[in-house]
Amino acid sequence: MRRVYLDNNATTPVLPEVLEAMRPYFDEHFGNASSIHHHGQETRAAVERAREAVAGLIGCRASEVVFTSGGTESDNLGIFGLAKSGGHIITSTVEHHAVLNSCKRLTEIGCEVTYVPVDGRGLVDPADVKRALRPNTKLITIMMANNETGVLQPVEELGKIAAEADVYFHTDAVQAAGKVAIDVKRIGCDLLSISGHKVHAPQGVGALYVRKGTLLQPLLYGGSHERSRRAGTENVPAIVALGKAAEMARAGLGDGSVARVAVLRDEMERSILDSVPEAGLNSGGALRVPNTTNIYFDHIEGEAMVIALDLKGLAVSTGAACSSGAIEPSHVLTAMGLPPERARASIRFSLGKQNTKDDVQFALNVVPETVAWLRELSPVYTG
Ligand SMILES: Cc1ncc(COP(=O)(O)O)c(C=O)c1O
Repeated sequence: MRRVYLDNNATTPVLPEVLEAMRPYFDEHFGNASSIHHHGQETRAAVERAREAVAGLIGCRASEVVFTSGGTESDNLGIFGLAKSGGHIITSTVEHHAVLNSCKRLTEIGCEVTYVPVDGRGLVDPADVKRALRPNTKLITIMMANNETGVLQPVEELGKIAAEADVYFHTDAVQAAGKVAIDVKRIGCDLLSISGHKVHAPQGVGALYVRKGTLLQPLLYGGSHERSRRAGTENVPAIVALGKAAEMARAGLGDGSVARVAVLRDEMERSILDSVPEAGLNSGGALRVPNTTNIYFDHIEGEAMVIALDLKGLAVSTGAACSSGAIEPSHVLTAMGLPPERARASIRFSLGKQNTKDDVQFALNVVPETVAWLRELSPVYTG
């Protein structure tokens, strides 16, 4: 059975070049990067080369890159590393749970959190962030690109507001890395999270940019790894993979591979909207990363659609979360003002570098017929 994977915002396949780069670090070069003998020196050098590559992707110095276990840890380290009891944090209603649940925890330990809203396109208004500032505001944490809609927030404006107010600015760039250019200096952020498995490196590795001079309270206590910002023996193979993936992601922004994905996404989006009645684009009118489209198909259940498409070989997703057995509509789409039925009827298609024109054609063959079939089955649909 043919299978087409259009769920690259969930995770991406490790690219062959990335796998090749990491492979020798499991056996041939297995040393602990903290050891002073040959074996350690070899892996230390590899870790530092990877750090340079990640720094190259986001425009910072290598010494400002801290390797972590992924986007979630990077977000947690940035947020808990700075927030203190009695402080105030500003975030948005459409953040990933790695940020939202960190903020929820902060309120339990004596911090105040303001959640700025988004408009119908999913955009934060910088004026709202400015208005939310208080004398005790310590941190603004607002994502660069949304995982469900791909919407790009006005991070440069937010960076300016943070700098003027002398407040730290963290941005979760997990879904932006490799899809749009990232320059931490242009953004003006103090902290920026990325995750390996969204850029064709393995799951379980990530990085946090920490601007020089930013004092973070570590999450983990142990050895003085990562300049005492993240204790624990480095996951050398995964870090090497992240370095290679960062190099390739950077090259992809200029060599036409990201542009090719953008063409495929636009073509797929247009064709689906043209061929399926009572469907529409979520976040239309906002700047988005080039690989993501989020579409509602009125009168269907997103979960049923994901399962039906999977049975035909197409992997996509909804932003819905299953909590205590009930399917909750996506907090991102409801924050944008979609009624719960429409949020539940929404599907995210996210492309990757490995996808082809044929993959898009496959989706275009199965999506309209599946929507029609599900609507026919629906006892309430009369269209
Ligand atoms: C925007 C965003 N932030 C954070 C994360 C968490 O990253 P990780 O899976 O590496 O922990 C994700 C993963 O889906 C994400 O999309």
